Amino acid sequence: MPFSQGRTLTRYLIEERRRFPEASGDLNALLLDVSIACKTIARIVSFGQLSDTFGPAAKPDMGGSLNVQGEVQKPLDVLTNEIFIQVSEWNGHLAGMASEEMEAPRQIGPNFKRGKYLLVFDPLDGSSNIDVNVSVGSIFSILRAPQDVIDSGRDVTAADFLQAGTRQVAAGYAIYGPATMLVLTVGNGVVGFTLNHNVGEFVLTHANIRVPEDTQEFAINSSNSRFWEPPVKRSVDECLAGQAGVRGKDFNMRWIASMVAEAHRILMRGGVFLYPRDMRDPARPGRLRLLYEANPIAFLMEQAGGGASTGRQAMLGVEPTSLHQRIGLIFGSRKEVERIERYHQDTAPVAAESPLFGSRGLFR
Ligand code: AHG
Ligand code: MN
Ligand code: MN
Repeated sequence: MPFSQGRTLTRYLIEERRRFPEASGDLNALLLDVSIACKTIARIVSFGQLSDTFGPAAKPDMGGSLNVQGEVQKPLDVLTNEIFIQVSEWNGHLAGMASEEMEAPRQIGPNFKRGKYLLVFDPLDGSSNIDVNVSVGSIFSILRAPQDVIDSGRDVTAADFLQAGTRQVAAGYAIYGPATMLVLTVGNGVVGFTLNHNVGEFVLTHANIRVPEDTQEFAINSSNSRFWEPPVKRSVDECLAGQAGVRGKDFNMRWIASMVAEAHRILMRGGVFLYPRDMRDPARPGRLRLLYEANPIAFLMEQAGGGASTGRQAMLGVEPTSLHQRIGLIFGSRKEVERIERYHQDTAPVAAESPLFGSRGLFR
């Protein structure tokens, strides 16, 4: 078993910071605390049913209840949320926090110093999978607090968090799979670290993650197909038609129902993921949440050369309107995301797919 520490997360962050001599190190310190939350959660999750924090129903003594989305909070949702808070509220780098499991932003209490960053997170993504021992993860996004918050040290409001994804300073996820990994961007590409249990450190194993531009793999929950909008239906139908259809190639399909695991697969080998806006309920535009699911994953995808979109616009350009806003999310291999965006602009067949305009067609 490996005992060498290799290039640890700490070393990576320090070496990255040297590129910015004026940087204070606050962001690094914050990211290292987030990584401690992830290591703690990895350990808890690894005990499976041996841990008394597992279970289908929310236990009242764990503070379990319905969260702001109206979803049942499992004890682990509550516990992992607490872990994120406890490891990062003390360090003086945060102005406030927001999470899937908290209706309102969390203030930094009077015993701690307030800082310049906002931490937004989904402490346990895919938690419906926890009972069946499928990979789950934690997702985080770091924003800069508005200047008046930094200057005054006032309490944060939900409005302070309503920043477009382009303004993220860093984002990433931890995946608790056969190996625990931390995948991160600080705006200079995407890197992946694997938890070396022998030394208790995240070690750089994936130095420059790139998403292949093309793919033959797609991921969508097709039990929702009757609610899909026409451009989504068209995209999926064309994949299903395989070699005989307009795509001229066979596709494979995956659905794990754990977005972190799907994002990780796509970062490793390409693919496209869709949890699109659909026509089931106009009041619920999509399933996944913009600030702590869609935006951090979109930042990672773009930094890895992939794409992320609502179908109608680039995800990172969306101006959020509420803290727990849901949104249609399409991400992955760049050309596939662009194709689906084109289908949203024009549901009629585009010229490029017509045999007359194809690569061997009359007009080439
Ligand atoms: P969470 O566990 O944080 O509520 O998120 C679960 C999400 C996401 O991970 C996954 O892609 C999606 O829910 C699965 O939804 P379906 O059950 O509709 O397939
Ligand atoms: Mn989630
Ligand atoms: Mn969650």
